[in-house]
Amino acid sequence: MSHRSLPRREPYRPQIHYTPARNWMNDPNGLVWHDGEYHLFYQYNPEGDQWGNMSWGHAVSPDLVHWEELGTAIPATEDEHVFSGSVVIDEHGTAGFGRSAAVAVYTASCQRTGVQTQALASSADRGRTWTRYRGNPVLDIGSKDFRDPKVFWYAEGGYWIMAIARCSERRIALYRSADLKAWTWLSDFGPAGATLGEWEMPDLFRLPLEGGGSRWVMLVSVNPGGPAGGSGVQYFVGDFDGVTFTPEDASGSWADVGRDFYAAATWEGTPEGRRCLIGWMANWGDAAAIPTHPWRGAMTLSRELSLVTAGGRTWLAQRPVAAVRDLRAGEPFTFGDLEVRGDVPLLGHLDEGALEVTAEFEPGTAERAGLVLGDGAIVIGYDARTGELFAERGPGPVTAGRHGGTAVLRDGRIRFTAYVDACSVEVFSDDGRTVITDLFFPERRALGLSAVGGTASLVSLVVQPLRPARRDVRSPGPHGA
Ligand code: FRU
Repeated sequence: MSHRSLPRREPYRPQIHYTPARNWMNDPNGLVWHDGEYHLFYQYNPEGDQWGNMSWGHAVSPDLVHWEELGTAIPATEDEHVFSGSVVIDEHGTAGFGRSAAVAVYTASCQRTGVQTQALASSADRGRTWTRYRGNPVLDIGSKDFRDPKVFWYAEGGYWIMAIARCSERRIALYRSADLKAWTWLSDFGPAGATLGEWEMPDLFRLPLEGGGSRWVMLVSVNPGGPAGGSGVQYFVGDFDGVTFTPEDASGSWADVGRDFYAAATWEGTPEGRRCLIGWMANWGDAAAIPTHPWRGAMTLSRELSLVTAGGRTWLAQRPVAAVRDLRAGEPFTFGDLEVRGDVPLLGHLDEGALEVTAEFEPGTAERAGLVLGDGAIVIGYDARTGELFAERGPGPVTAGRHGGTAVLRDGRIRFTAYVDACSVEVFSDDGRTVITDLFFPERRALGLSAVGGTASLVSLVVQPLRPARRDVRSPGPHGA
């Protein structure tokens, strides 16, 4: 299948982003590398295209870009929703499920009482089949608001760490364990940073610092109260001593200032020590209204993380994993040296393939200048009055509005790369420090430029077609793939 074809009956089917063949998907879960495969589990409704019957769906990939859907991994039961959590590879068999067993640590949300406890399931066949632990739950504090355990092996201490949200208290609790079954509370982090919404989906990991040393990063999803309204993901950079996480700056920062980036989490056990992240490309404020069929929910591109220092602070930087570049196919369209005033249509007959668009502008006298996607469905540009890189989404099935973040001009120019898929755009700027992820649902695929309130110049624009990463969807049965 060339990048020029896409089943017309699925006009918004992403070509370089993971979507299940059918039905509802939210948070990524159980991100782990094992035996040559990256695993992506996720919140999944095997029975329908709205949230419900929460189970874990499953997909695997050799490279974090090409995914194969494997169906439901851990199904909901009459008693239990299988909420978000993580998977570890228990190399030494500490939990008694055997050496190198995959162990899922998830939140069992009781369908009757709403009480949220932490539970285990294990797999000895590379995550294909799962057995619930008979001794569940392994952690129960009698709370309806205690979920999304992220577990990792803390090598320095020789024990497991769990970071878990006490959602309405805006805290992340840390626990330790020798065997994944008995857990001892260590400390709480929070409230800090954005506290308007509930805290969910913590992640805690170490990243190298440019110039030497390392720092720990805590991710916390917040809903509502995100940077574009509704859901958002904040992060804190700091230190972790095996007991307590101490942020360098308790005000936190947004990992992505778009409207559709939530519940982001990172892979454990990635070879070469890379740390890669994926998020749910949606906002709880709009997710139920996403106009796609027969699936609802997509993941972001997988992004490699690093830390950069600027202005006396340490920042998280993201860039699409290198395997995304391998999707480049065919000659790019290039434009340069163009004065832009008002709307300038450039490409009016784009097919459904995904695009990598690299743009460099001189804002000149314009108040706002940038790229127009899908006949104005969304504009990605620079706002000279606020000094921000922004996305402005027009009226449609998901909330309209303008939101943005830091834009750094270099030699008076703004530069960014946007990955445009069938119903989404992810914009990376400022060496990956500023990222904007938004869904949009164009009626026609087109690309143009616009400048408002003056004249801007386009220094260069490279529009590189990308080949689809998606395999042809296997014909799914009535209950999912
Ligand atoms: C985050 C979240 C989690 C929960 C899951 C339920 O989006 O609300 O806190 O475990 O979704 O599907």
